[in-house]
Amino acid sequence: MDARLLHRTADLAAGYLASLDERPVRAEATLEELRAALNVPLDDAPTPATQVVEELVAAADRGIVGVQSPRYYGFVMGGGLDAAIAADWMTTIWDQNGGGYPVGPAASVAEEVACAWLLDLLGLPRDAGVGLTTGCQMAHFTCLAAARHRVLADAGWDVERDGLFGAPPIRMFLGAKAHTTVFGALRMLGLGGGRVELVAADGQGRMRTDGLAAALARGEGPAIVIAQVGEVNTGAVDAMPEIVELAREHGAWCHVDGAFALWAAASPSLRGLVAGVAGADSWATDGHKVLNVPYDCGVAIVRDRAAHAAAMSSFAGAEYIPLPEHDERNQSEWVPEFSRRARGFTVYAAIRELGRRGVAELVDRLCANARLMGELLDAEEGVTVLNDVVFNQVLVRFGRDAANVTDAVLAAVQREGTCWMSGTEWDGEPAMRISVCNWRTSEDEIRRSARAILEQARATGQ
Ligand SMILES: Cc1ncc(COP(=O)(O)O)c(C=O)c1O
Repeated sequence: MDARLLHRTADLAAGYLASLDERPVRAEATLEELRAALNVPLDDAPTPATQVVEELVAAADRGIVGVQSPRYYGFVMGGGLDAAIAADWMTTIWDQNGGGYPVGPAASVAEEVACAWLLDLLGLPRDAGVGLTTGCQMAHFTCLAAARHRVLADAGWDVERDGLFGAPPIRMFLGAKAHTTVFGALRMLGLGGGRVELVAADGQGRMRTDGLAAALARGEGPAIVIAQVGEVNTGAVDAMPEIVELAREHGAWCHVDGAFALWAAASPSLRGLVAGVAGADSWATDGHKVLNVPYDCGVAIVRDRAAHAAAMSSFAGAEYIPLPEHDERNQSEWVPEFSRRARGFTVYAAIRELGRRGVAELVDRLCANARLMGELLDAEEGVTVLNDVVFNQVLVRFGRDAANVTDAVLAAVQREGTCWMSGTEWDGEPAMRISVCNWRTSEDEIRRSARAILEQARATGQ
């Protein structure tokens, strides 16, 4: 490969990052413009690599969302730490198959180390099984496959061998504000997204434990309770000590959706928010949110290693795969994929760049900045912060009296371009969701963003 292309690409990448301050955070191009720019005729003849890259970057440029911007607050999306971005490049250059030790020894060991660090930082059992997935949805899939294995094995059913036809039914309990990806994982596992018992949530979106207790008491048999640590709108955290105890009392597996707020466990000052979470059976979280690893990086953690491996392992069945010689990590034993990107390198680099204290400081900073954003907005007449800002999510509504102008303010803020956030519905009315998830976001950027939001709110006449 021509090294000049790599240098040219590095310049393009650095130029992009340097432009973040001036670019609107939103994507500027319309769908039609992007199609016109990217849908070039497919030539019969090859195109020089440098030309391909330069033209791709130019054509995509106006359709790139400023996710790496310190003023991107959309959905729940982290940016990329410096070492993690660079390690991601090396992951591509090395092109290791992250499926197992025989096809990439260093990838296997880097992932082994990164997984041990994750357990350490999150305060979870050191001997738990860990798999790095594409994202939290697939982390749910992985953890819930292990849950499915264990609760059915305890009822005398081998789901990996016999499938679900004729299996004992599994009762599943979720809070009414459970994230959509949990339902997706249940559907993919053949457990049915519509067979769950939804437990009412409180005003912040937390599963009500009295409701869970009553629902569990209504029947018996294999059961899975899915708790949530970080509701996607409010960041609210379910009452983990009570939920873990209820699950244990009823012999149920307790899974936790901790896509972002599980990271409270890595901060001494915020750890209390997730007290009791370590008592669960499995945990799904993301690297590409709070930890600021580039996409794609979810984390599936399962206390019962045997159930985890039984649900996932496809490595052992193939006669052409060498048998393990020692205790080396074969990553495909812990995730749904066989061949895959060597995800461990970026997680390793992100954690190493920050160090234990840096991870805690990052979590603290995101949350302090979310609180500051909430205070700055709430101080304005006619602007209401709807949630207790316990983590990194701020839920805001605009409009004096009954006149709710939130959608108009949101559209105006997105168009103006200083910052970007998405909307939602809360209690049946529109709300603005601000997620502070990027390591680059400073107090100054929060103040600049709050000014831009309030200017648009005033101009909208709320
Ligand atoms: C609470 C919660 N669970 C799960 C997910 C899904 O994560 P991913 O997009 O990595 O699959 C999200 C995403 O925002 C989330 O907020």
